[in-house]
Amino acid sequence: MVPGEISVGIVGLGLMGSSIATCMLIAGHPVVGLEPLEEELALGENRIQAHLKIAWEKNLISEKPDFYLQNLLVTSDYSELRDTHIIIENVKEDIAIKKVVFTKIDAVVSTDALITSNTSAIPISELQEFVSNPSRFFGLHWMEPAHTTRFLEVICGDKSDIELANYLYNMAALWGKEAVLVKKDIRGFIANRLMYAMYREAMFLVEEEYASVEDVDRACRNVAGYFLPMVGVFRWMDLTGVGAYRTVMKDLFPLLNNATVPGKLINKIVDEGGNGVFNGKGFYEYTEEERKLWQEAYTKFTYEIREIALKYPHDVVKKQIDKENEQI
Ligand SMILES: NC(=O)c1ccc[n+]([C@@H]2O[C@H](COP(=O)([O-])OP(=O)(O)OC[C@H]3O[C@@H](n4cnc5c(N)ncnc54)[C@H](O)[C@@H]3O)[C@@H](O)[C@H]2O)c1
Repeated sequence: MVPGEISVGIVGLGLMGSSIATCMLIAGHPVVGLEPLEEELALGENRIQAHLKIAWEKNLISEKPDFYLQNLLVTSDYSELRDTHIIIENVKEDIAIKKVVFTKIDAVVSTDALITSNTSAIPISELQEFVSNPSRFFGLHWMEPAHTTRFLEVICGDKSDIELANYLYNMAALWGKEAVLVKKDIRGFIANRLMYAMYREAMFLVEEEYASVEDVDRACRNVAGYFLPMVGVFRWMDLTGVGAYRTVMKDLFPLLNNATVPGKLINKIVDEGGNGVFNGKGFYEYTEEERKLWQEAYTKFTYEIREIALKYPHDVVKKQIDKENEQI
């Protein structure tokens, strides 16, 4: 796998598309960034440039941004995708829009290209019906900002070829990811199923006035936030004693929230037009200055947490044992 020989098409240069394009450029791929809405083209390109600038300032990359930008073509013309080998779609989460976009992609790419979607929740088995070769279609689910985060789910639909999924899974290491292979399509994939179980319980606790938004966040940051960058839920239970978890599960599982619709807390915010830091109204209220500072602080944090997480890869103990054996 030589990234320079594998051209990648990024379709949709919004929030996620521009950070995924940045990730691909850093990995050494030639990138065609296709923004379907011409009026959004310049914004997408600016975002990629800004990501590379910060990545350079934070020592994430070894060359100046211009070095990577030589490999980028930004366009609204689908025919520019004709020589790309891997396509990563990132348009609005709307199946009708995605259908139109996949039909256009399918009409121009070669029959051996791999087509992928960064959908958050639309089943891959449904999306793969929009292309002529469904066995070459996969979900590639990223986490924002994709050039610093380590998360990537490679998701198979019912008709996906598992060998090709493994090819993407292995390639993810070149993109700086610790990939997760989702062998069978399931709604919400892996990470969102885990996270939404937590969002639901968090909202229930506030709606029923057991605790404030601030205190639920504080509990989450100082429990899950403390161990999750190093170990997942299973290793955490191993590290702290499995038996006690089963005892608590017996008592607690029947009492956890299992609502099937969004609750009054989030409904009120969204119905009143709130969208978090993007417009200053979310679970918290933000002044203009606070909005900006939260976004900046989060960007800074993503680089710092990345440094720590890189010191503790999933196979940290195996690496240590191998090293000790080499020294004997
Ligand atoms: N934001 C996240 O953290 C995140 C994480 C994982 C997956 N995703 C998924 O990635 C995809 C993109 O999300 P985003 O957050 O980058 O959104 P965004 O709003 O920042 O970008 C949306 C993109 O869709 C394009 N678009 C909008 N209307 C269109 C139309 N009618 N035809 C063609 N293109 C159109 C926009 O021009 C833009 O490029 C979604 O499927 C989303 O669910 C987002």
